[in-house]
Amino acid sequence: MSSGWDQRFSGEGYHYGTAPADFVRRQAARLSPGARVLSVADGEGRHGAFLARQGFEVTAFDGSDVALAKARALAAGQVPQPEFHFCRVEDWHWQPEAFDAVFGVFIQFAPPSLRAEIFAGIATTLRPGGLVLLHGFATRQIENHSGGPRDPEHLYTLDLLRAAFAGWQIVDEADYDAVLSEGAGHEGRAALIDFVARKP
Ligand SMILES: C[S@@+](CC[C@H](N)C(=O)[O-])C[C@H]1O[C@@H](n2cnc3c(N)ncnc32)[C@H](O)[C@@H]1O
Repeated sequence: MSSGWDQRFSGEGYHYGTAPADFVRRQAARLSPGARVLSVADGEGRHGAFLARQGFEVTAFDGSDVALAKARALAAGQVPQPEFHFCRVEDWHWQPEAFDAVFGVFIQFAPPSLRAEIFAGIATTLRPGGLVLLHGFATRQIENHSGGPRDPEHLYTLDLLRAAFAGWQIVDEADYDAVLSEGAGHEGRAALIDFVARKP
C-alpha cells in the first residue's frame, strides 16, 4: 500500500482520535449482544476497540501496519479483544455469510471500481438479514477543509448508496452537516452521509 497512510499515522497520538465517530456510537445500539461485526479499513482501531467493548465479536482489518500497531495498543487489555488483521482490502477474503454487521467508516480511499468490489464483498460476507453500516463524506464535502478525499468520485450521495444496495431494506439514511472533532484528521464543519441497510 502507499506509504501515505503510514506516514499520516506515524505522528504522536491518534490521527482520527481514539473515540468512535458519533455514527458508530449511535448505530451500535441496533446490534444484538454478541453480534459478529466486521470493520473495514479500521485504521488506528477506534471503531474496532469501541465495538469490542460493547460486547460484539469484532474482526477488523487495515492496510497500514503503522495504524494497526496503534489499534492493538488502543485495545490492549480489553476483554473481549477485537481481532485485528493487516490486509489490503483488495486482498481480503470476504467469507460468505460470516458476519451480522459490517461497518465501513470513512473508507473513501476507494475509487468507484474498488468501491464496487468492496460493496460486493460486503454483500457476500453478510448473512441474510445482516446490516451494512456506511458513514462517510458527501459530495458537498469538496467545499470544506475538514478532511476526506479531494476527488469527488470518491465521495458519496444517498442515491449512489441506494443504487449500490438496491433491493436492500433501508434502515437509516441521512445527508447532513455536522462539526467534526476527530483528531487532527477530521476537524471542523463537514458534509456527511449515513447509510444503514439490511441484506435481504
Ligand atoms: C480515513 S482512514 C479511516 C480509518 C477508520 N475507518 C476511522 O474511521 O478511523 C482510511 C483508512 O483506510 C486505510 N486504507 C487505505 N487504503 C487501503 C486499502 N487499499 N486497503 C485497506 N485499507 C486501506 C488506511 O490505512 C486508513 O486507515
